[in-house]
Amino acid sequence: MKVLVINGSPKGKGSNSYKLTKAFLEGMELGVGSMEGEDPVWVEEIQVNRLDLKPCLGCFSCWNKTPGQCCIQDDMKQVIEKLLWADVTIWSFPLYYFTVPGGLKNLIDRQLPMILPFMVEREDQVGNGSHPTRYDMSGKKTVVISTCGFYTAEGNYDGVRSLFDHMSGKDRYTAIFCGQGELFRVPELSQRTDEYLEYVKEAGREFTEGSISETTKAELDKLLYPREVFESLADASWGIDKETGKKASDGQIFTKQMAALYQKESYSGKDKVLEMYYTDVDECYQIVLGKEGSRVLTDGFQTFTTRIETPFTVWHSIAVGEIRGDEALMKHLYKVKGDFDLLLNWDKYFGSATSETGKGEENGDTGSEENGNGSSQGIHTPQKATNMNIMLIPWIVFWVAVSIDGFMGSLISIAACVLVPVFFYQNKKTFYDIISGTLVTGFSMAVLAGAPERIVVPLAYLAFGIMWTITCFGKIPLTAHYSMNNYNGESALQNPLFMKTNWILTLMWGILYLLTPIWTYFIMATKVGSLISAINSILPIFMGVFTAWFQKWYPAKIARG
Ligand SMILES: Cc1cc2nc3c(=O)[nH]c(=O)nc-3n(C[C@H](O)[C@H](O)[C@H](O)COP(=O)(O)O)c2cc1C
Repeated sequence: MKVLVINGSPKGKGSNSYKLTKAFLEGMELGVGSMEGEDPVWVEEIQVNRLDLKPCLGCFSCWNKTPGQCCIQDDMKQVIEKLLWADVTIWSFPLYYFTVPGGLKNLIDRQLPMILPFMVEREDQVGNGSHPTRYDMSGKKTVVISTCGFYTAEGNYDGVRSLFDHMSGKDRYTAIFCGQGELFRVPELSQRTDEYLEYVKEAGREFTEGSISETTKAELDKLLYPREVFESLADASWGIDKETGKKASDGQIFTKQMAALYQKESYSGKDKVLEMYYTDVDECYQIVLGKEGSRVLTDGFQTFTTRIETPFTVWHSIAVGEIRGDEALMKHLYKVKGDFDLLLNWDKYFGSATSETGKGEENGDTGSEENGNGSSQGIHTPQKATNMNIMLIPWIVFWVAVSIDGFMGSLISIAACVLVPVFFYQNKKTFYDIISGTLVTGFSMAVLAGAPERIVVPLAYLAFGIMWTITCFGKIPLTAHYSMNNYNGESALQNPLFMKTNWILTLMWGILYLLTPIWTYFIMATKVGSLISAINSILPIFMGVFTAWFQKWYPAKIARG
């Protein structure tokens, strides 16, 4: 498949729109690569800003004196050759004054030698007639990819649409129009923009299979950020103080952009004050996180909820993804004072505030013109979460039921273990869910086979304790498999602070259950033996309270430095 990219941005390869085009091309390569017998994608690129391209003289000599040949000797001859060569032409450009940039318009005008002088009626009823093409252009496809500066593409692309409706024919081109284009050059926002680019890539893949699916179109139609977030980000990015008109410092711009990303949905009933002290530049700002949004204070400071003391360079490196925030914290590259909860739930407060708005009054507009029924492989498949109860329930049922009645208790425990797989429809299974079900079934069978409860029950506690303790010698302590759900899922496993906290807690719980069989064995010989499970729940209740406190206290202690 021969693809011609015409990049009409004066920024050349540094263009935002070109980033989308590159992603689309990657997708096309994937799509074509998966098709048997299909030629690979062969891409030719034209950077309009590098061409020697003079404006059309309007002399019509390409129609009458030298049909098909322009009288101007410049690079347009090669451009026309490439347009004729390509199976697919991708027009990539920024929106300038609601249409294409001047350089590209120049190139479009210079296509005059490609059409014949005669007037014909158009089949698609666009406008009031057209000129037939000089060359056979049937079978060739057109893609239009563009970003614009406003928060949405909606309502901004009427001029571009009209141009391509006339040029390529209504419904005869595929378009991706994206608002908030300048965000594609902001590394701090790459999490969201990369996500968007993944959908553009998917669109490219689907295009090679016929057309972009409705699911992908819907994703491309979503705003990168909600309007107010984007506009605050954009305003801050110019580095000019809105009130004074003076140049703002890097620290101030950065803090304002951070504040713009605040998600007011995370508001928990009380304003929070995040104080940022950039130690290397000796600048301090406060971000007040309120119900209606955030505001940055440069003076008149309030009592802070959380204060982060960091070199500006470190915080900036974290923001652009050069270092992980948790890793930097473990290395004591910055300190956190006050409430640590804000840092633990950073993504909740400042995560990528994507807009769920569909195509409508508020959204970006993909407007893919071809009607797509193509398949979508969905970029994000929802992840199931693990559930510690699935691991615990067989044990608890066994300890309670068997200590009351050995026979019936064993049967009930086996029934509980048999039910475990049912929960895997909704939850992600772990190795410990499986091993727990298996071990408890084994212990229950032993009781049914006549083994004394006084031996089997303590043994079950011991096995449980060993299962916990042993994981402290491996890579992931047992509790981490479950508590990661509350800390960004599997990415929490990369967080050294999270892992260390879980390691300590797993070890403590493991030791508790390694010791439990000792007193269990003796108590079971007494009159209160049938109450052993109730007695054995006293210490875990205290441990539970301790765990809840420790998992907040310990990271905060490290953060204070
Ligand atoms: C001269 C000029 C005119 C522009 N006109 C518009 C416009 O009419 N509507 C809009 O939303 N953005 C407009 N923009 C913003 C650009 O479309 C936006 O910054 C785009 O992402 C730049 O893309 P590029 O990096 O591919 O060149 C304009 C920018 C410039 C420099």
